[in-house]
Amino acid sequence: TRTALHDHTIVLIGLMGAGKTTVGRRLAAAMDRPFADADHEIERAAGRSVSEIFEDFGEAAFRDGERRVIARLLDQPPMVLALGGGAFVDPDTRTLIANKAISIWLQADVETLATRVARRDTRPLLRDGNPVEILERLLETRQPAYAEADIHIDASAGTHQATADAIIAAL
Ligand code: S3P
Repeated sequence: TRTALHDHTIVLIGLMGAGKTTVGRRLAAAMDRPFADADHEIERAAGRSVSEIFEDFGEAAFRDGERRVIARLLDQPPMVLALGGGAFVDPDTRTLIANKAISIWLQADVETLATRVARRDTRPLLRDGNPVEILERLLETRQPAYAEADIHIDASAGTHQATADAIIAAL
């Protein structure tokens, strides 16, 4: 609803390559509110890249940090927040978001996602294998969690701007 639009942080979720960061920036600009990228905030807090955090401390430690950073961001004034692809799988994070924010799942087919991530291969989870196969597996396990998002948007078809416009129309 329009009221919710002004009161709540908008959280973008979905698999790697869905366009969460780019769409989020555009959405934030259109809504005239701040933008934050959870991965970027984790990197800032850790003083390391996401890849380095996975390498040096492991995925479990990354997930702990991710959960804490997201909880902190959700306590800030309304913003647009792009999450890393695995964040919404965490039940505590999902509950926090359900209570405090509006969640939007950027849905795209796996081929589209794989093409997009091929351009910027800094993702530790895609390092060892065929991106399409890895993304298919991740989608299968994560779909039930992603489906809990308040709003589902098709992010396959159009440009990132078109996706941002579709979100504004849906809010
Ligand atoms: C991950 C997605 C990445 C990043 C990390 C793990 C995931 O974020 O958080 O590499 O589990 O899907 P993007 O979705 O922004 O690539």
